[in-house]
Amino acid sequence: MGIIMIKISSVYFAIGVAIGYYMSIVHDYALTPVHVHINLLGWTALMLAGIIYHLFPDLGASKLATFHFWFHNIGLPIMMMGLFFTIALETEGLVPIIATGASLTVIGIFLFVFHVVKNLKPS
Ligand code: HEM
Repeated sequence: MGIIMIKISSVYFAIGVAIGYYMSIVHDYALTPVHVHINLLGWTALMLAGIIYHLFPDLGASKLATFHFWFHNIGLPIMMMGLFFTIALETEGLVPIIATGASLTVIGIFLFVFHVVKNLKPS
């Protein structure tokens, strides 16, 4: 579980900095919310969770980690696509999509926090 999360987070890193780089070049910072959330939820949060699951294999092998993985990795792309098109198309119609993605992501992160607090033991 840890290794795949580290790999996915690295892809988010590339996408996140590419958006930041693009904004810097065109001097249009409208996509800042997408850039920020891809970098922080996609790159840093996912990377940290991946490292934790790798450091503590029992934690990474459990069902809760699998649920966390899927909620986070389904929710975040939905949220980011919704946010991206909301900004690019200047529409409010996609807010339910953002809310759905955000809810899935938050559930995944709550599962992760519960899992760490309850099950993380010194190895
Ligand atoms: C080469 C890599 C990066 C580039 C070119 C870049 C570029 C940018 C740009 C152009 C903005 C908008 C600034 C504005 O609205 O005035 C921004 C905002 C931001 N970036 Fe990046 N960024 C990079 C990497 C990162 C990384 C790795 C993170 C976090 C892990 C990050 C977090 C943020 C945050 C939190 C903001 C919002 C700051 C605010 O609105 O006060 N950025 N970045």
